[in-house]
Amino acid sequence: MRPQNLKTRVFLDGGNPEETSESIKLLGFLDGQTTNPTLISKNPEARKRLERGEKFSVDEILDFYRGVVTTLYGLIPKGSISIEVYSDAATKADAMLRQGKEMFTWIKNAHIKFPTTREGLKAAERAVRAGMRVNMTLCFSQEQAAAVYAATRGAKKGQVFVSPFIGRLDDRGENGMDVIANILSMYAQGDGHVEVLTASVRNLDHFLYALKLGTDIITVPYEVLRTWGEKGMPMPEDGYRYDAKSLQPIAYRVIDLNRHWEEYDIRHDLTDKGMEKFSSDWNQLITTEQRKIA
Ligand code: E4P
Repeated sequence: MRPQNLKTRVFLDGGNPEETSESIKLLGFLDGQTTNPTLISKNPEARKRLERGEKFSVDEILDFYRGVVTTLYGLIPKGSISIEVYSDAATKADAMLRQGKEMFTWIKNAHIKFPTTREGLKAAERAVRAGMRVNMTLCFSQEQAAAVYAATRGAKKGQVFVSPFIGRLDDRGENGMDVIANILSMYAQGDGHVEVLTASVRNLDHFLYALKLGTDIITVPYEVLRTWGEKGMPMPEDGYRYDAKSLQPIAYRVIDLNRHWEEYDIRHDLTDKGMEKFSSDWNQLITTEQRKIA
């Protein structure tokens, strides 16, 4: 059962509904799930098909993705399920929005993931105005989170998530958890319309510190969620301290949230690399002559 003092919503980060069922069995609750092209490419059914040497056509892979999220919806009908659009460096906002609109009809509790890039923010701005729920992914900086806030101003609470990726910052020696702390402090001065979804979680320390910081949502890979469940779902104690080891701190910056989103410096090399990886994992699933859906 959900620990009484757990305020953060806990999502599973994955593309395999078996893990969703197992997580619900183990924890007794699950507040949602995030998917992405890499996670869908690791789905066991998709892997089996590829091992038989059969790739998907564009329509088939979209049907497959739709099937996966429809199953997830059956398991978590009241939570939120994030579905990611295909995007590479050349994908324009119109193409992202077109895909997002279609994906938004797949299930009743979808949040559509757009990259935190210029084109992704343009698409999100229009999606939010059209009443869609969005999850801005591949966020690595406080300034990108400020742009998400500004681009989605006027959205209802629950309509917009921003997903800062902590593990990928850690991977290159920077303290990803600082970005969570910094964004939460910055947003505390705003109107609360964007919720912080801590993503790219790699271990239980990330998880416990994110709860301690008061992240709105956290998405957690199955192995980490299982470890937490098997330990009896511990919560961070009063004196809990996160050990950042030798990771380089990322300093808090004073950023005015009242600017137009295009005025913020949203470039980040990890966002570009992340898009490359997501699009290449997706394209690996598709027959060569049919690649690129955008
Ligand atoms: C979830 O929304 C993200 O796509 C995911 O947490 C990324 O995790 P990774 O950095 O381990 O790929």
